[in-house]
Amino acid sequence: MPGDGIGSIVLPEAIRVLEAAGFEAEYVHGDIGWEFWRKEGNPLPDRTIELLEKHNIGLFGAITSKPKDKAAEELDPSLREKGFVYFSPIVRLRQHFDLDICIRPCRSFPGNPLNFIRRTADGGYEEPAVDTVIFRQNTEGLYAGVEWTNPPDQVYQALMTHPKMKNFAGAPREELAISTRIFTRKACNRIVRAAFDYAKKFGYKSVTICEKPNVIRETSGMMRQAGREIARDYPGIELWETNIDAQMMWLTKNPEDYGVIVSGNMFGDIVSDGFAGLVGGLGFACSANLGDRCAIFEPTHGSAPKYVGLDPSIVNPIAMILSACMMLDHLGETERAEKIRGAVGKVVQAGKVRTYDMMRIPGSREAIRKGAASTEEMTDAIIGALE
Ligand code: NAI
Ligand code: MG
Repeated sequence: MPGDGIGSIVLPEAIRVLEAAGFEAEYVHGDIGWEFWRKEGNPLPDRTIELLEKHNIGLFGAITSKPKDKAAEELDPSLREKGFVYFSPIVRLRQHFDLDICIRPCRSFPGNPLNFIRRTADGGYEEPAVDTVIFRQNTEGLYAGVEWTNPPDQVYQALMTHPKMKNFAGAPREELAISTRIFTRKACNRIVRAAFDYAKKFGYKSVTICEKPNVIRETSGMMRQAGREIARDYPGIELWETNIDAQMMWLTKNPEDYGVIVSGNMFGDIVSDGFAGLVGGLGFACSANLGDRCAIFEPTHGSAPKYVGLDPSIVNPIAMILSACMMLDHLGETERAEKIRGAVGKVVQAGKVRTYDMMRIPGSREAIRKGAASTEEMTDAIIGALE
């Protein structure tokens, strides 16, 4: 599912690398994205859902999303005012297949000019080796969409039974905005267990539950409880607990101390973007969405429409390639995944082939003249570094 914009540029590059690494697979194309919204009134056609039902595993590039009214304007004239409403296809995929576990590894490659550096006490600099993997609950919490402005009667009355609602009793109901944060025990247990399993498989010494249970007692408290119970099954791995606010402060102070981190949906979103920023940002940030029966691998970045028309293309394919490596890990092809990650590491370390983002220059046609590698050249270099 290449999707829109640079999604359809980087995904074929990742497949080139998979093939060069000797991974044998048949790739089936899935339609997704803006084009299908405009032509069919559905950015995630049923045929794509059916393909995934059949194959259970997907590589996804990126899609373009626009606000509802803008989306309605771009719909094919024959489809207008027929009740089609735009929704994000990737959010719908996560919900449809209950892809409740999101994994976002953030590892620095030595030699990456985008790596975070820190001043030392003697005035010098050091570059902490970041190797943190964020497990984000992907389907519940603040992003589940259970929310109202001007809540209906039953909701309002029910809320008013809570003693703390006294503080809001004076506000006109139509001026109340409510977004719920619902956690289930099952989902907390699943994300925490997935994190511990991962820590065990890949040798991480700690799992940190990053929430805010001192204030958000019920939901964060449930996640903390899941951590404490499940940790008992993993005697070799330490359980740490942090609060999201303090975690973001420690992000630049001692990021190298954190192994696996588990958070609910929103805090997981925040902390994973934070860590991704330490290791190269969107050009390097990969992710997996896992459910019981289906798995989808995607870079964190979007469709970056402003870079679509450029020939040659200049965007960094590494985030997509690392996402494909996560797919290999998931399929038990860890050795091949390591080989590809090793090749990425060699290219980054050598520093001869760098996309524009790695040179810290603006992304434009000029970038190539200034010595930036094209998307294809970066992929070629990675393929060349595979042994
Ligand atoms: P974006 O991630 O597409 O781009 C933000 C900026 O990051 C780009 O302008 C570029 O400077 C840089 N960038 C992104 N990917 C890069 C790469 N591979 N190499 C080098 N630089 C890269 O986010 P933006 O601009 O906020 O959104 C553009 C569209 O993408 C929107 O329609 C948005 O809804 C959608 N989007 C889709 C996502 C998805 O498919 N999962 C995630 C985020 C945004
Ligand atoms: Mg985000």
